[in-house]
Amino acid sequence: MEIKVCIGSACHLKGSYDVIKKLQAYITKHQLDQTVTLKSSFCLGKCSDAVSIQVDTDDVISMTPENVENFMNQLVKKVK
Ligand code: FES
Repeated sequence: MEIKVCIGSACHLKGSYDVIKKLQAYITKHQLDQTVTLKSSFCLGKCSDAVSIQVDTDDVISMTPENVENFMNQLVKKVK
């Protein structure tokens, strides 16, 4: 699974770096390095929903650093 985090200017301003840090911390903590690849991406086209992320080819969704843990818990449940 690949998670792309937008680092375009709108998302950057809204904290994409923090989202990436939180995702990375989650992946490390839960030993998901083999399952989840984290990538940064240029504008995903949903700047008004920044920070935008995309899992594989799913819809682009809006993420905040505070929501990362919850989101990843749900995602991991789906994968297992
Ligand atoms: S800058 Fe992130 S979706 Fe456009």
